[in-house]
Amino acid sequence: MTRAPEWMKQGLQLPAIAAPMFLVSGPDLVIAARRAGVIGSFPVTNARTLDELDAWMSRISAEAGEGAPAWALNMITHRSYTRFDDELALLAKHRPPIVITALGSPARVIAAAHAYGGLVLADVNTVEQARKAAAAGADGLVLVCAGAGGHTGALSAFAFVPAVREFFDGVIVMGGAVSSGRAIRAAEILGADFAYLGTSLIAAEESLAHRDYKDMLVRASVSDIVLSAALTGAPANWLRESLIAAGYDPAALVGEKTVMNLGAPEDADKKRWRDVWSAGQGVGAVTRIAPAAEIITTLAAAYQNARAL
Ligand SMILES: Cc1cc2nc3c(=O)[nH]c(=O)nc-3n(C[C@H](O)[C@H](O)[C@H](O)COP(=O)(O)O)c2cc1C
Repeated sequence: MTRAPEWMKQGLQLPAIAAPMFLVSGPDLVIAARRAGVIGSFPVTNARTLDELDAWMSRISAEAGEGAPAWALNMITHRSYTRFDDELALLAKHRPPIVITALGSPARVIAAAHAYGGLVLADVNTVEQARKAAAAGADGLVLVCAGAGGHTGALSAFAFVPAVREFFDGVIVMGGAVSSGRAIRAAEILGADFAYLGTSLIAAEESLAHRDYKDMLVRASVSDIVLSAALTGAPANWLRESLIAAGYDPAALVGEKTVMNLGAPEDADKKRWRDVWSAGQGVGAVTRIAPAAEIITTLAAAYQNARAL
């Protein structure tokens, strides 16, 4: 944790960020994560309206308490995303200490975040994307490595982190199947400053995930994760049991390139993520539904043990 500014380390029990997850991370999870000692985050898309987003940002700023870790807003910067300008106005109003950009260049938010002292992390899947985001002025990079929940990268963390460290001196966050204290320690040893915890926190009591989704996660092991680009057009990791329950044949989805027609484009994306559930290859470490504080404290103890190895 040498390259991150001091304020990013404030209040941390673990060098980790609770990763933003569509239909999973809301204000309760962000606040619980921060209170337990990791950086919290959520994607703008989880707030149905701008008013709701405004209210969530107010709550998150106010509620975690003095000395709590920072929080991050996950923004979509793609040109086709119509709420972007209004969300940029909310950025100036609430000044989240960290902005994590996804689906597009970080360039569109860097000036706005830097104007109030915010730090921008760009989510990337390849070394080429990492170079572009670094050249655009991102302060940090989230390297989404193989095995991640949601839309996943294809590169092994063992290759990706060192390859980016060769040319990038800023903050590196490593994501993808990081679900244990040893894995968090391994991320640091590889050259990352923070680990990105997605799947580990879906079964937190404070997450927005449906109870059946959490129960399925608890039942699942790494062999139950199916990698397919067929549902959204980009490679993502899905729980096999949820694919079957939604009427898909998991074997037929592997390697499938065509995107399935699930209706109007704006509804289709939400429908896919609501009906079919995602998890990363670290799912085997999720053994019960528990408060975020318990999950994080357990990981922190294991991380300290790993540091002593
Ligand atoms: C259900 C689910 C939804 C996700 N939604 C988003 C999202 O809205 N924005 C984003 O940047 N990443 C999203 N991700 C990816 C996570 O932020 C993170 O990269 C990933 O979960 C890390 O891998 P892990 O799940 O193996 O810990 C999502 C992941 C999951 C499991």
